[in-house]
Amino acid sequence: MNQPTIHGGQVYQLAKQLGRPVETLLDFSASMNPLGPSTSIVRAMHDAVNGCQHYPDRHSEELRAQLAQEHTILEESILVGNGSAELIHIIPKALALRQACIVGPTFSEFEHALRIAGVQCTSVNAVSTQRYAPPIEKIHDVLAEWKLVSASDDRKPGIHRHAVFLCNPNSPTGRRLSPRDLRRIIKRVNQIGCWLIVDEAFIDWCPSYSLIKDFSICPRLIILRSFTKFFAIPGIRLGYLVGEPVVVGSIQSHLPPWSVNHVAQAAGVAALKDWRFKQRSLRYMQQARAVFLAQLRMLPGVRVMPSQANFVMVELPPGVDSGGIWGQLQEQGLLVRDCQTFSGVMEPALRLAVRLRRDNHRLVQALKRTLKNVQG
Ligand SMILES: Cc1ncc(COP(=O)(O)O)c(C=O)c1O
Repeated sequence: MNQPTIHGGQVYQLAKQLGRPVETLLDFSASMNPLGPSTSIVRAMHDAVNGCQHYPDRHSEELRAQLAQEHTILEESILVGNGSAELIHIIPKALALRQACIVGPTFSEFEHALRIAGVQCTSVNAVSTQRYAPPIEKIHDVLAEWKLVSASDDRKPGIHRHAVFLCNPNSPTGRRLSPRDLRRIIKRVNQIGCWLIVDEAFIDWCPSYSLIKDFSICPRLIILRSFTKFFAIPGIRLGYLVGEPVVVGSIQSHLPPWSVNHVAQAAGVAALKDWRFKQRSLRYMQQARAVFLAQLRMLPGVRVMPSQANFVMVELPPGVDSGGIWGQLQEQGLLVRDCQTFSGVMEPALRLAVRLRRDNHRLVQALKRTLKNVQG
């Protein structure tokens, strides 16, 4: 039996458990844009409700046209899903994968989806001593091993069923690969003929680093994107992937019909048009994150990782039980993510979303008190 995966943002369950209304919880455990959802998205969703008497457009035509324009790519290269999680779950089956390397510690649904599809998984992990910088050399070691396999004639077709899964910027570490490192990986992937799946759920916070503009240089590259985080609509479920049209077509054949509802499609179209919201959000995040990081760095014994996303990973002083801190903050209505629930995180650490300034300040004060209490 597969264990259920652990995620942040479980507000309904926790509100029930804590005996308090959802509105009284401050959720730092799921990383949403604190400025969203924007009024234009909310308005578009309201307006779309009347259209719910019909089945939604099965192919999300309007949204795909808008995405194609946004990224200057063909509509046929885009597949929209009921959240990127749905797409993550169909990829292993659609590509008939046999073996995968997950670059961790990272989003647990990669491993979950791969395991239920019967794919053999290994992982290479970023480590605390290198401030969770992406483990580039370990990725290359795996690719070098796969290259040897691909060089032996009899097993060559097998390598087309191997895939590397990585998230950029990564969660929970907040770290991003450099364009140079990504180019090196893509070059190797092209030589070998394996798949490269890059999850860009948080790339809207550093959009110039997206691989979408060069996806055509690697026919076996699939890029996953999500509307959830940047547009703050986790309850709507909207994501998409970008890849070669033939590959996209074959993945699409594994999707159930009408998986993306009408309201979600309308929200996506409105989101892409609202460039003012995008600019305001990026400006806000740059400033608020810098202040939050500076406040966190003042906490004794706390190590703050650099972040290119809308959250930050903080390592707690050695010996502190991160699960205990997580529980005590929760009692105060402050939900954070215990990073030790991610496979590959060995040190006590928390992932904290960057929220509105007053909320960030409240969390820093609560964390300071809680750490002081447990350390005596
Ligand atoms: C890295 C990463 N990728 C994908 C997802 C899934 O996003 P979606 O809401 O689009 O299914 C999440 C959700 O937490 C995530 O953290």
